[in-house]
Amino acid sequence: MKRVLETKVEDNFMIRFKYYKSNKPKPSLEEVIKIQNDTIEVNNISNIIENDPRTKLLGLKDFTNWKTYTFKKHPGLFLILNPFTSLGQRFWIRKCLEEYPKKPNKTNIDIERNIEDWWSELCKGEQWDRKLQKKLRWTTLGYHHNWDTKVYSEENRDVFPLELAELCDVVAQYLGYVNFNAEAAIVNYYHMGSTLSAHTDHSEVNLEAPLFSFSFGQSAIFLIGGHEKSYEPSAILLNSGDILVMSKEARLCYHAVPKILPALNQPWNNHEESKIITCDDVKTKYINIKKIVTEMNRNVDNEWTCFGSYVQESRINVNVRQVLMENRKTLDD
Ligand code: SIN
Repeated sequence: MKRVLETKVEDNFMIRFKYYKSNKPKPSLEEVIKIQNDTIEVNNISNIIENDPRTKLLGLKDFTNWKTYTFKKHPGLFLILNPFTSLGQRFWIRKCLEEYPKKPNKTNIDIERNIEDWWSELCKGEQWDRKLQKKLRWTTLGYHHNWDTKVYSEENRDVFPLELAELCDVVAQYLGYVNFNAEAAIVNYYHMGSTLSAHTDHSEVNLEAPLFSFSFGQSAIFLIGGHEKSYEPSAILLNSGDILVMSKEARLCYHAVPKILPALNQPWNNHEESKIITCDDVKTKYINIKKIVTEMNRNVDNEWTCFGSYVQESRINVNVRQVLMENRKTLDD
């Protein structure tokens, strides 16, 4: 009897997951959360009056153009609807493909073969190998997630990318999290049939800090439930540029991606929105401006074509966490 009950309580998340994963029949999107009905728009979140000078540099629009929502059924969950400029999206997509999978970062391909620089070795020019291109499913940054033990360690840690830490800091400050430190990230690469099964993210020592999740390229159905799998999950459509933030009660909730959907819009190609930025636009003491300005602007030319072809058929998700408690530098502190 007990066993029967246990199977039953497991079912609600799985039932919805299978429903949205199915191709025959295709799921109806009728019950996907509607921004107008199921969310509350939030304004003046952290009393930020002035725009952060870093927004432009990091490919973000001014705060005044951001649309941020909370969910009636999921306290602690925030959705910021694509606050990126078109060039901003291109900048981040390119980082995820060209730079983040490079060594010393870890990827799923490491198990099979040693590739120093996935994009240059397998995705460019003559070496273009579609099969190997599609094999990349994840890259880890900073404290590398250990998929077997689920335990972070100092031995398995590399430098966290500065620009990604700054991006998270801008979003964290905007939401009122003034002490967030980006220390670990998983970049997930999805193709049209890919899924990600139900899980919670609980390996971090600091579970009070929020988790920031950025989506680029094709769209996805994202399921979020409660602290048990018995809780009926909600389905949220995530489009390119959207930022989902899991904080407070939502931080440890089960979530999954049962389906990748073709994007209805391609905001990374929306050039009217993006103007080339110059160093004078960005008065900031924070990061190496010159390098980012050059990187941001070069994506208007034909250097972008290969990255554009990739996201035409794929989705990229970057989810970033703080691992350590405040004011700690290492796990051993
Ligand atoms: C994750 O939970 O690890 C990824 C979620 C997503 O792809 O949106």
